[in-house]
Amino acid sequence: MRRRITILGATGSIGRSTADVVLADAGRFEVAAVVGGRDARALAGVARRLGARFAALAHDGGGAELRSELSGSGIACGAGAGAVLEAAARDADVVVAGISGTAGLAPTYAALKPGRRIALANKESLVCAGQAFMANARRLGAEILPVDSEHNALYQALGAGRAEDVVSMTLTASGGPFRTWPREKIAAATPAQAAAHPVWSMGSKINIDSASLMNKGLELIEAHHLFGLRADQLDVLVHPQSIVHGLVHWRDGSVTAGLGVPDMKIPIAHSLSFEARLTPPVRALDLAAIGSLTFEPADEERFPCLALAKQALQEGGAAPTILNGANEVAVEAFMAGRIGFFDIARLVEATCDASAARHRDAPATVEDALEIDRDARRIARARLPQAASASP
Ligand SMILES: NC(=O)c1ccc[n+]([C@@H]2O[C@H](COP(=O)([O-])OP(=O)(O)OC[C@H]3O[C@@H](n4cnc5c(N)ncnc54)[C@H](OP(=O)(O)O)[C@@H]3O)[C@@H](O)[C@H]2O)c1
Repeated sequence: MRRRITILGATGSIGRSTADVVLADAGRFEVAAVVGGRDARALAGVARRLGARFAALAHDGGGAELRSELSGSGIACGAGAGAVLEAAARDADVVVAGISGTAGLAPTYAALKPGRRIALANKESLVCAGQAFMANARRLGAEILPVDSEHNALYQALGAGRAEDVVSMTLTASGGPFRTWPREKIAAATPAQAAAHPVWSMGSKINIDSASLMNKGLELIEAHHLFGLRADQLDVLVHPQSIVHGLVHWRDGSVTAGLGVPDMKIPIAHSLSFEARLTPPVRALDLAAIGSLTFEPADEERFPCLALAKQALQEGGAAPTILNGANEVAVEAFMAGRIGFFDIARLVEATCDASAARHRDAPATVEDALEIDRDARRIARARLPQAASASP
């Protein structure tokens, strides 16, 4: 039976890997829709490659270019927020949520439908509106299958026992490009150095978050919503080889680990498998060639973003939404060369402190989450000049 698939963020890192997975098992899929942000040409390219029925571009102004790029293909298309939501809601068995940042919230939410599977990469849907998102998925009977490699490994490892017998979970982190750098050297790091991830090939925003370990903090929040564990049941272990992605610790002392080579096509393929597993184009795991797997604790002194994310998870309510909005502003400013690397954490902390009294409750809807997000961004932007002047 062919499954209908829609890919949100089809031109990005997750989207391109998804296209590779789908094409490797082309007989098993029909592509209902593909969605992109601004790049009309790339979107038309992936729509043609996959034989999609519909292509939607978020950027209003790119509609004419998209139409012209798709002319003669028979692929229908649209542009603007309405077209994106239309694509997300179209008939499909599985929707890959691969838009980056809070821009992914509304389309991912719109994709929740009874009996449908969401292959969830857009972690912001859970970080910013986790309670509302999971409650809505449960109410509608939509299945959430995590694409993030750590959560996907944990999801698979959970198959070894009963949820009631889980004591805790460990998410591994590669440690990023600054794992062995002293604090003074990290302080002077450039955007290019931060974006040079040692193991994974990913989009630019998540690369910087991996360098600061904010990504791992966001993933703890994501895991809390996905698996229903408390903050004190979730921890992080640095594992530079990125072969073990997650560990489930059971009541009887057993530990079930999820392993695989660091290639996003593996968790994507798992999240798109229905009756049988797929055969994505990935290399096999050769542990003898790797030789040794090493583990070390995460250093929250050199990576303060991890501590800030843990604090937001502990506080709950609106704190994770504020943290995420502030971090997006800070990362953008860092990538533009306006602030230094440690200013990311400083700006996030100052924004969290300033916003805490304004928003306490967890957002009940996506609209609430987006309002808290806008407010946090406004506060973060207002504090940018101070953060910039504090830089060495
Ligand atoms: N990359 C990874 O290995 C990885 C691993 C785990 C989780 N994730 C998560 O997956 C998500 C995507 O990450 P990524 O690395 O694939 O990001 P990316 O390479 O930057 O791609 C982002 C995608 O979203 C599209 N987009 C941007 N703004 C949009 C908007 N307003 N409306 C519709 N589409 C929009 C982009 O289109 P344009 O190209 O036209 O801008 C692109 O297709 C993130 O939440 C990330 O945390 C990624």
